[in-house]
Amino acid sequence: MKILMVCLGNICRSPLADGLLRKKVEEKGLNVTVDSAGTSSYHIGSEPDTRTQENALKHGVDLSFLRARQFSKSDFQDFDRIYAMDNSNVFNILQMAQSDADKEKVKLLLDLIPEQHNKEVPDPYYGGEQGFEKVFQLVDKATDILIEELENA
Ligand code: 4NP
Repeated sequence: MKILMVCLGNICRSPLADGLLRKKVEEKGLNVTVDSAGTSSYHIGSEPDTRTQENALKHGVDLSFLRARQFSKSDFQDFDRIYAMDNSNVFNILQMAQSDADKEKVKLLLDLIPEQHNKEVPDPYYGGEQGFEKVFQLVDKATDILIEELENA
């Protein structure tokens, strides 16, 4: 199973989802590959945003080894599931899909949480510290549910 997390910049939301899921996969000893990408080219090669890294570290998650890259068409071949953080990410990813099978791989991350159906992980980039904590709580819950599903698969 190969899972890709996607946001706009690949420096705030998707690297957190990536690092957090990798940590949980490792702890459970599951055979799951995890990666992340951004739909934009803005931050290619950058480490996760300092605010994202500091917030994640408070929760014991190291993201310093991650580097931003841009989503590409080949990701549809390389991954089984593609989780987008918001609807604009879904829109941008679907524009690059070449088949129905490609399209079926794309889901909103928060659709994993029953009471957050159709909700987005809010973009914390232009906001304050509490935005990063909100993102952490949502992504932590979604990845817990995902891990449970993968464990029982
Ligand atoms: P992300 O956050 O999509 O969660 O990585 C953003 C990062 C950078 C920008 C926007 C959102 N930006 O406009 O540069």
